[in-house]
Amino acid sequence: MVLALILALHPSQGLSPGDTVTLRCHLPQSAAQVELYQDGLLGSYKDMDKHQVMAEFSLVCVKLEDAMKYWCQYRVLEPPGVSEKSVPIELVVTDHRYSPPNISISHEKIVEVGTNVTIQCCNQGYGGIIFLHKDGHSVPVQHQDPRGGGTATFILVAVTSADSGTYRCSYHPKASLFVSSPLGDSVMLEVTPTPAPPGDERRSRGNLVVAVVRGCTDALTFGLGIFFVIDAQSLWIWRDVRTGADTKIPKDMQFQILAVGKCKSVLWRPT
Ligand SMILES: *[C@@H]1O[C@H](CO)[C@@H](O)[C@H](O)[C@H]1NC(C)=O
Ligand SMILES: *[C@@H]1O[C@H](CO)[C@@H](O)[C@H](O)[C@H]1NC(C)=O
Repeated sequence: MVLALILALHPSQGLSPGDTVTLRCHLPQSAAQVELYQDGLLGSYKDMDKHQVMAEFSLVCVKLEDAMKYWCQYRVLEPPGVSEKSVPIELVVTDHRYSPPNISISHEKIVEVGTNVTIQCCNQGYGGIIFLHKDGHSVPVQHQDPRGGGTATFILVAVTSADSGTYRCSYHPKASLFVSSPLGDSVMLEVTPTPAPPGDERRSRGNLVVAVVRGCTDALTFGLGIFFVIDAQSLWIWRDVRTGADTKIPKDMQFQILAVGKCKSVLWRPT
Protein backbone atom coordinates (compact mmCIF):
# COMPACT_ATOMS: atom_id res chain seq x y z
CA MET A 1 0.00 0.00 0.00
CA VAL A 2 1.44 3.32 -1.09
CA LEU A 3 0.74 6.26 1.14
CA ALA A 4 -0.89 9.37 -0.20
CA LEU A 5 1.64 12.16 -0.04
CA ILE A 6 0.82 15.78 0.36
CA LEU A 7 3.47 18.43 0.52
CA ALA A 8 3.25 22.14 0.96
CA LEU A 9 5.75 24.75 0.01
CA HIS A 10 5.69 28.41 -0.83
CA PRO A 11 7.03 29.81 -4.08
CA SER A 12 10.72 30.44 -3.98
CA GLN A 13 12.26 33.80 -4.77
CA GLY A 14 15.47 35.18 -6.09
CA LEU A 15 16.72 32.68 -8.67
CA SER A 16 18.34 34.25 -11.71
CA PRO A 17 19.05 32.77 -15.15
CA GLY A 18 22.35 30.90 -14.99
CA ASP A 19 21.93 29.81 -11.38
CA THR A 20 21.89 26.15 -10.42
CA VAL A 21 19.12 24.94 -8.21
CA THR A 22 18.80 21.60 -6.45
CA LEU A 23 15.40 20.09 -5.84
CA ARG A 24 15.23 17.51 -3.10
CA CYS A 25 12.46 14.99 -2.60
CA HIS A 26 12.23 13.28 0.77
CA LEU A 27 10.18 10.11 0.89
CA PRO A 28 8.30 8.54 3.79
CA GLN A 29 9.55 5.11 2.74
CA SER A 30 12.14 3.60 0.43
CA ALA A 31 11.16 3.47 -3.23
CA ALA A 32 12.37 2.00 -6.50
CA GLN A 33 12.26 5.26 -8.42
CA VAL A 34 11.66 8.93 -7.84
CA GLU A 35 10.33 11.08 -10.65
CA LEU A 36 10.48 14.82 -11.01
CA TYR A 37 7.75 16.46 -13.06
CA GLN A 38 7.92 19.89 -14.70
CA ASP A 39 4.46 21.24 -15.29
CA GLY A 40 3.07 17.76 -15.87
CA LEU A 41 5.92 16.43 -17.99
CA LEU A 42 8.47 13.98 -16.65
CA GLY A 43 11.64 16.04 -16.35
CA SER A 44 13.95 13.53 -14.75
CA TYR A 45 13.93 10.37 -12.65
CA LYS A 46 16.27 8.60 -10.36
CA ASP A 47 16.59 4.92 -9.53
CA MET A 48 16.87 4.52 -5.80
CA ASP A 49 19.05 2.26 -3.71
CA LYS A 50 17.42 0.20 -1.01
CA HIS A 51 16.76 2.25 2.15
CA GLN A 52 17.38 5.49 0.27
CA VAL A 53 14.62 7.93 1.14
CA MET A 54 15.84 11.13 -0.49
CA ALA A 55 16.49 12.04 -4.10
CA GLU A 56 18.21 15.19 -5.37
CA PHE A 57 17.84 16.71 -8.79
CA SER A 58 20.00 19.59 -9.93
CA LEU A 59 18.70 21.99 -12.52
CA VAL A 60 21.92 23.35 -13.91
CA CYS A 61 21.90 26.79 -15.50
CA VAL A 62 18.33 27.85 -14.89
CA LYS A 63 16.58 29.54 -17.82
CA LEU A 64 13.48 31.69 -17.80
CA GLU A 65 11.62 28.82 -19.46
CA ASP A 66 12.30 26.68 -16.38
CA ALA A 67 10.09 28.97 -14.31
CA MET A 68 7.09 26.72 -13.71
CA LYS A 69 5.64 24.21 -11.27
CA TYR A 70 7.57 21.13 -10.16
CA TRP A 71 6.53 18.13 -8.14
CA CYS A 72 7.82 14.66 -7.41
CA GLN A 73 6.29 11.23 -7.17
CA TYR A 74 7.80 7.87 -6.33
CA ARG A 75 7.26 4.29 -7.39
CA VAL A 76 7.52 1.15 -5.31
CA LEU A 77 7.70 -2.43 -6.58
CA GLU A 78 6.32 -4.43 -3.65
CA PRO A 79 3.39 -4.11 -3.99
CA PRO A 80 3.64 -2.18 -7.27
CA GLY A 81 2.28 1.32 -7.06
CA VAL A 82 2.90 4.99 -7.49
CA SER A 83 2.55 7.68 -4.86
CA GLU A 84 0.38 10.72 -5.19
CA LYS A 85 1.98 13.92 -6.40
CA SER A 86 3.72 16.09 -3.90
CA VAL A 87 2.25 19.55 -3.62
CA PRO A 88 4.07 21.50 -6.34
CA ILE A 89 6.89 23.97 -5.88
CA GLU A 90 6.78 27.07 -8.00
CA LEU A 91 10.22 27.80 -9.34
CA VAL A 92 10.32 31.56 -9.78
CA VAL A 93 13.12 32.99 -11.91
CA THR A 94 14.02 36.68 -11.95
CA ASP A 95 14.03 38.34 -15.34
CA HIS A 96 16.34 41.32 -15.04
CA ARG A 97 14.92 42.87 -18.20
CA TYR A 98 11.87 43.97 -16.22
CA SER A 99 12.37 47.28 -14.45
CA PRO A 100 12.11 46.99 -10.68
CA PRO A 101 8.89 48.39 -9.23
CA ASN A 102 8.93 51.83 -7.65
CA ILE A 103 8.08 52.09 -3.98
CA SER A 104 6.86 54.89 -1.75
CA ILE A 105 5.82 55.07 1.88
CA SER A 106 3.29 57.34 3.53
CA HIS A 107 5.28 58.37 6.60
CA GLU A 108 8.78 59.71 6.45
CA LYS A 109 8.88 61.12 9.95
CA ILE A 110 8.34 59.83 13.47
CA VAL A 111 4.92 58.29 13.90
CA GLU A 112 3.31 56.68 16.89
CA VAL A 113 2.70 53.01 17.36
CA GLY A 114 -0.80 52.32 16.09
CA THR A 115 -0.52 54.46 12.99
CA ASN A 116 -1.58 53.01 9.67
CA VAL A 117 1.38 53.12 7.32
CA THR A 118 0.80 52.83 3.59
CA ILE A 119 3.36 51.46 1.16
CA GLN A 120 2.65 51.86 -2.53
CA CYS A 121 4.41 49.95 -5.27
CA CYS A 122 4.04 50.68 -8.94
CA ASN A 123 4.96 48.57 -11.96
CA GLN A 124 3.63 50.72 -14.77
CA GLY A 125 1.92 48.62 -17.35
CA TYR A 126 3.22 45.13 -16.63
CA GLY A 127 0.07 43.91 -14.90
CA GLY A 128 0.24 40.72 -12.88
CA ILE A 129 0.75 40.54 -9.13
CA ILE A 130 2.77 42.91 -6.96
CA PHE A 131 4.51 41.50 -3.87
CA LEU A 132 5.61 43.29 -0.73
CA HIS A 133 8.71 41.69 0.82
CA LYS A 134 10.20 42.28 4.22
CA ASP A 135 13.86 41.50 4.69
CA GLY A 136 14.35 38.40 6.80
CA HIS A 137 10.97 36.93 5.88
CA SER A 138 10.97 33.88 3.68
CA VAL A 139 7.80 34.72 1.81
CA PRO A 140 6.25 38.01 0.73
CA VAL A 141 4.34 39.61 3.59
CA GLN A 142 1.55 40.84 1.31
CA HIS A 143 0.61 40.66 -2.34
CA GLN A 144 -1.97 42.34 -4.48
CA ASP A 145 -3.33 42.14 -7.99
CA PRO A 146 -3.85 45.80 -8.92
CA ARG A 147 -6.02 44.73 -11.86
CA GLY A 148 -4.45 46.79 -14.56
CA GLY A 149 -3.87 49.83 -12.38
CA GLY A 150 -0.21 49.06 -11.94
CA THR A 151 -0.15 50.40 -8.38
CA ALA A 152 -0.56 48.21 -5.32
CA THR A 153 -1.41 49.86 -2.00
CA PHE A 154 -0.28 47.88 1.02
CA ILE A 155 -1.50 49.07 4.40
CA LEU A 156 0.31 48.13 7.58
CA VAL A 157 -2.55 48.58 10.01
CA ALA A 158 -1.75 49.89 13.50
CA VAL A 159 1.99 49.34 13.29
CA THR A 160 3.90 47.91 16.22
CA SER A 161 7.61 47.39 16.72
CA ALA A 162 7.22 44.06 14.94
CA ASP A 163 6.53 45.98 11.72
CA SER A 164 9.89 47.71 11.79
CA GLY A 165 12.21 46.53 9.07
CA THR A 166 13.14 46.97 5.45
CA TYR A 167 10.49 46.58 2.76
CA ARG A 168 10.84 46.10 -0.98
CA CYS A 169 8.54 45.15 -3.80
CA SER A 170 8.70 42.88 -6.80
CA TYR A 171 6.09 41.79 -9.29
CA HIS A 172 5.25 38.82 -11.42
CA PRO A 173 4.24 40.30 -14.78
CA LYS A 174 0.95 39.16 -16.19
CA ALA A 175 2.73 37.74 -19.22
CA SER A 176 4.55 35.13 -17.13
CA LEU A 177 3.44 34.43 -13.59
CA PHE A 178 6.48 32.38 -12.56
CA VAL A 179 8.87 35.09 -13.72
CA SER A 180 9.71 37.83 -11.24
CA SER A 181 10.97 41.35 -11.69
CA PRO A 182 14.07 42.22 -9.70
CA LEU A 183 13.42 43.55 -6.22
CA GLY A 184 13.04 47.31 -6.22
CA ASP A 185 14.42 49.97 -3.92
CA SER A 186 13.80 49.58 -0.23
CA VAL A 187 11.93 51.65 2.33
CA MET A 188 12.67 51.27 5.98
CA LEU A 189 10.47 51.39 9.06
CA GLU A 190 12.21 51.72 12.38
CA VAL A 191 10.70 51.70 15.83
CA THR A 192 12.59 53.50 18.54
CA PRO A 193 11.41 53.34 22.11
CA THR A 194 10.40 56.68 23.56
CA PRO A 195 11.99 57.43 26.90
CA ALA A 196 9.19 57.64 29.46
CA PRO A 197 8.73 61.06 31.04
CA PRO A 198 10.18 61.04 34.57
CA GLY A 199 7.65 59.78 37.08
CA ASP A 200 5.22 58.42 34.50
CA GLU A 201 6.37 55.08 33.21
CA ARG A 202 2.90 54.06 32.11
CA ARG A 203 3.05 56.53 29.24
CA SER A 204 6.06 54.84 27.71
CA ARG A 205 4.81 53.73 24.31
CA GLY A 206 7.55 53.88 21.76
CA ASN A 207 7.67 55.87 18.59
CA LEU A 208 7.90 54.70 15.07
CA VAL A 209 10.61 56.29 13.05
CA VAL A 210 10.09 55.97 9.38
CA ALA A 211 12.88 56.68 6.98
CA VAL A 212 13.15 56.14 3.27
CA VAL A 213 16.28 54.50 2.02
CA ARG A 214 16.84 54.35 -1.68
CA GLY A 215 18.95 51.28 -2.30
CA CYS A 216 21.26 51.01 -5.26
CA THR A 217 20.34 48.53 -7.93
CA ASP A 218 23.68 46.74 -7.88
CA ALA A 219 23.49 46.11 -4.18
CA LEU A 220 19.98 44.73 -4.51
CA THR A 221 20.91 42.42 -7.34
CA PHE A 222 23.79 41.12 -5.28
CA GLY A 223 21.44 40.57 -2.38
CA LEU A 224 19.09 38.32 -4.30
CA GLY A 225 21.15 35.16 -3.93
CA ILE A 226 21.44 35.62 -0.22
CA PHE A 227 17.75 36.30 0.04
CA PHE A 228 16.99 33.05 -1.69
CA VAL A 229 19.19 30.94 0.54
CA ILE A 230 17.55 32.40 3.62
CA ASP A 231 14.27 31.74 1.88
CA ALA A 232 14.94 28.05 1.33
CA GLN A 233 15.97 27.49 4.93
CA SER A 234 13.00 29.35 6.29
CA LEU A 235 10.65 27.40 4.10
CA TRP A 236 12.00 24.24 5.56
CA ILE A 237 11.40 25.46 9.06
CA TRP A 238 8.03 26.92 8.17
CA ARG A 239 6.78 23.67 6.77
CA ASP A 240 8.08 21.62 9.63
CA VAL A 241 6.15 23.82 11.97
CA ARG A 242 3.05 23.63 9.87
CA THR A 243 3.03 19.88 9.32
CA GLY A 244 4.21 19.10 12.82
CA ALA A 245 0.66 19.24 14.10
CA ASP A 246 -0.80 17.18 11.29
CA THR A 247 -0.08 13.51 11.79
CA LYS A 248 -1.59 12.58 8.44
CA ILE A 249 1.24 14.19 6.55
CA PRO A 250 4.52 12.29 6.77
CA LYS A 251 6.94 14.59 8.51
CA ASP A 252 9.92 13.10 6.79
CA MET A 253 8.77 13.67 3.25
CA GLN A 254 9.83 17.02 1.98
CA PHE A 255 10.38 18.64 -1.34
CA GLN A 256 12.79 21.45 -1.10
CA ILE A 257 14.73 23.85 -3.26
CA LEU A 258 18.25 23.91 -1.96
CA ALA A 259 21.36 25.50 -3.24
CA VAL A 260 22.19 28.21 -5.70
CA GLY A 261 25.39 28.40 -7.71
CA LYS A 262 26.72 29.40 -11.12
CA CYS A 263 27.10 27.09 -14.11
CA LYS A 264 28.11 26.81 -17.74
CA SER A 265 25.76 24.31 -19.37
CA VAL A 266 22.09 23.45 -19.33
CA LEU A 267 21.55 19.94 -18.03
CA TRP A 268 19.52 17.82 -15.71
CA ARG A 269 22.03 16.14 -13.49
CA PRO A 270 20.96 13.37 -11.12
CA THR A 271 23.05 13.84 -7.99
C1 LIG B 1 -6.37 52.12 10.49
O1 LIG B 1 -7.03 51.23 9.63
C2 LIG B 1 -8.08 50.53 10.26
C3 LIG B 1 -8.60 49.49 9.28
O2 LIG B 1 -8.73 50.01 7.99
C4 LIG B 1 -9.15 51.51 10.69
O3 LIG B 1 -10.20 50.83 11.33
C5 LIG B 1 -8.53 52.54 11.63
O4 LIG B 1 -9.49 53.51 11.95
C6 LIG B 1 -7.32 53.18 11.01
N1 LIG B 1 -6.65 53.98 12.01
C7 LIG B 1 -6.22 55.20 11.77
C8 LIG B 1 -5.51 55.87 12.92
O5 LIG B 1 -6.35 55.74 10.70
C1 LIG C 1 9.79 54.20 -11.71
O1 LIG C 1 9.89 55.62 -11.80
C2 LIG C 1 10.71 56.07 -12.85
C3 LIG C 1 10.85 57.57 -12.74
O2 LIG C 1 9.77 58.14 -12.08
C4 LIG C 1 10.10 55.64 -14.20
O3 LIG C 1 10.91 56.06 -15.27
C5 LIG C 1 9.99 54.13 -14.20
O4 LIG C 1 9.33 53.70 -15.37
C6 LIG C 1 9.21 53.64 -12.99
N1 LIG C 1 9.27 52.18 -12.98
C7 LIG C 1 8.18 51.43 -12.92
C8 LIG C 1 8.39 49.97 -12.96
O5 LIG C 1 7.07 51.91 -12.84
